[in-house]
Amino acid sequence: MRMSCTCVVGLQWGDEAKGKIVDLLTAEHQFVVRYNGGANAGHTVVKNGKTYKLSLLPTGILSPPLRAVIGNGVVVNPVRFLEEVRTLQGAGIAIDPHNLAVSDHAHLIFPYHVEEERLGESDADAAIGTTGRGIGPCYADKVARSSGIRVGELLYPDHLRARLRQIVPRKNAILRAVLPTARTFDADTICDEYLGHGQVMRPFITDTPRLLQQALRDRQRILFEAAQGTLLDVDHGTYPYVTSSNSSTAGVWSGSGVPARNLTRVVGVIKAYTTRVGRGPFPTELNDGPDGIGEKIRKTGREYGTVTGRPRRCGWFDAVAVRYTAALSGADELAVMLLDVLSDLDEFRICTAYELDGRRITDFPSDAFLLERCKPVYETLPGWKREIGEARKAGDLPTAARRYVDRLAELIGLPVTIVSVGPDREQTILCR
Ligand code: IMP
Repeated sequence: MRMSCTCVVGLQWGDEAKGKIVDLLTAEHQFVVRYNGGANAGHTVVKNGKTYKLSLLPTGILSPPLRAVIGNGVVVNPVRFLEEVRTLQGAGIAIDPHNLAVSDHAHLIFPYHVEEERLGESDADAAIGTTGRGIGPCYADKVARSSGIRVGELLYPDHLRARLRQIVPRKNAILRAVLPTARTFDADTICDEYLGHGQVMRPFITDTPRLLQQALRDRQRILFEAAQGTLLDVDHGTYPYVTSSNSSTAGVWSGSGVPARNLTRVVGVIKAYTTRVGRGPFPTELNDGPDGIGEKIRKTGREYGTVTGRPRRCGWFDAVAVRYTAALSGADELAVMLLDVLSDLDEFRICTAYELDGRRITDFPSDAFLLERCKPVYETLPGWKREIGEARKAGDLPTAARRYVDRLAELIGLPVTIVSVGPDREQTILCR
């Protein structure tokens, strides 16, 4: 039997304001699932006038009685997990094992992962510009197998100690070989600390694929909440300037244990412009100085990383890239976010093709080094030059704003079903 499940997925380089769309859809679902990434994600949700910033927990946790699940495809730092649980509990959100589960198969991030990443990123030429949360090294250990440790192992003290005593000395040797002053670690100290975290996490640790499959049998609807954006997908994004998981819908099946054929609705979330944090090619980036449009968008849109506080790189909307990611993630519809941020501009550009080595192309190149050489081909549309934060239906938008949204839909070949004109839940236009 197949159930109607939904996935909310970013179609750019992350930070598309997916949390707001998840929040809008929670009423139609009973479960919300994170299937990829870890505490590298930054989700900001404004709810009942309060701002919540989440990194590891699904934002759907803010909408009881929705049950939140951290799937097996996520990498979990127990310190962050417990920090977020306590912060939310402190803010009056009820969190208990009934509404939060974490997969026993999710991999654990250890302090040596963070140090491994720090060393890798300290080489300016090789750096990816990561969030520094140990995400990549943890996934590397998962795939390497001999040094990966999963959440379920926290519940078996002797076993965990034996594994760490085997792994940590090897990690220390590698770290010191790379940099003689690198931090090293003591297996027993880490083990004691993690066993303590494990005891607190114990009630939340579950066989989540089984939980979700039972949910499907009980005709419960599941909302999948992607972290990052499709252009950061390790297989399909702008490799190597990507994250280490499948941040497109490709990660749903492997990262949750729910067969992807249950997905009947994929909402592709896009900003009305483009941003990116970290290194890597970005053809439509606006490098136009402190008085330029790029800086204006950054300031108006408060485009600073939720996790690291880094200023996000800003640029025009790239329809070539989003056509590619919309197809890849199987998007059925588009949610256009942060349209209000553009309200003060005289005109906009949309990238409709690239020039690559003197040739015009409309397919997204499959290699980052080729994308680096692409020059955007733009079309220009007029601005609307007035506030739109009060608009509640498409008819309330200025004609130029409607034309801009319609043009995005036309270029991507998908209907726009949601337009967001501000951070609050009410500042949303449902287009059907
Ligand atoms: P990592 O995920 O920390 O390994 O970082 C890899 C790349 O993904 C870097 O360019 C990060 O800036 C980017 N990245 C990771 N998480 C997010 C996110 O939630 N939003 C936007 N970019 C992200």
